[in-house]
Amino acid sequence: MKIRKAVIPAAGLGTRFLPATKAIPKEMVPLVDKPTLQYIVEEAAASGIEDILIITGRTKRAIEDHFDKSYELETELEKSGKLDYLETLQKISNLANIHYVRQKEAKGLGHAIYCARFFAENEPFAVLLGDDVVANDKKPCLAQMIEQYQTYRTSILGVQTVSDEDTSKYGVIKGDKLADRIYKVEDMVEKPAPGTAPSNVAVLGRYIITPGIFRCLEETTPGAGGEIQLTDALRKLAAKESMYAYDFVGRRYDVGSKEGYLEATVEFALKRPDLKDEFTQYLKNIVSKL
Ligand code: UTP
Repeated sequence: MKIRKAVIPAAGLGTRFLPATKAIPKEMVPLVDKPTLQYIVEEAAASGIEDILIITGRTKRAIEDHFDKSYELETELEKSGKLDYLETLQKISNLANIHYVRQKEAKGLGHAIYCARFFAENEPFAVLLGDDVVANDKKPCLAQMIEQYQTYRTSILGVQTVSDEDTSKYGVIKGDKLADRIYKVEDMVEKPAPGTAPSNVAVLGRYIITPGIFRCLEETTPGAGGEIQLTDALRKLAAKESMYAYDFVGRRYDVGSKEGYLEATVEFALKRPDLKDEFTQYLKNIVSKL
């Protein structure tokens, strides 16, 4: 079966980015001049996804406005001859069919994914976390994962190797390496205490999941932080069905953290032809004064 649908959970509180996220969704905070979430929607669209469900919540209305058509603004841009901007805006509302559902309370990533059960119906679907951006100029991260799905035909977790100190920030898998970039997942641990991680292979914001996850989520009780953890439900799924992890190619940024956000902003600006030269010069100047 083809992967046609993607779910982007974007209903989290964004606590690490307060006060910016008091009234603005963290997914709408821009990297240079484009909201984080647009990079993620573009990745899904470039990977062949036709329908996207964004899980939103209160204070997240700007997300729906952003991906909608903006008649007034488009008319103004057309009148004033700003056709480049007009084209940019029109592309946004044509990226994919975007649907929304509200998670009434931020009860965890697992709970957010459960809100997608009617959307997914009985198909395997992709998940892209709303604050994880992966840059790859050759092949989008999700397209790489979909390719792996064509071989393995079951759930696939997007992973990368992280340092010993960083394992406690992520879900970490236990499993054997089967082939280049592929692991068979036996089990996993969410945010293992330092020194207890089963490996250095961490799950980083991209998943292909079979619909069996919804039954597993129903059976999952609140875990760490009182939240329904996706990792807990994935562990149950891995006990029932085979599951693989794929070490994707690309630079991943945790844009929900201040450090990740700053790194992404600087690196994306350095790739922009219209900013690169002046910005490089500026960085060189300030670094030389440190
Ligand atoms: P995070 O844990 O990174 O987001 O969740 P958060 O809860 O907003 O972050 P902090 O710790 O408060 O700063 C990963 C993804 O899952 C979504 C988030 O929006 C983010 O894209 N999420 C998380 C939900 O949709 N619902 C939830 O209940 C929790």
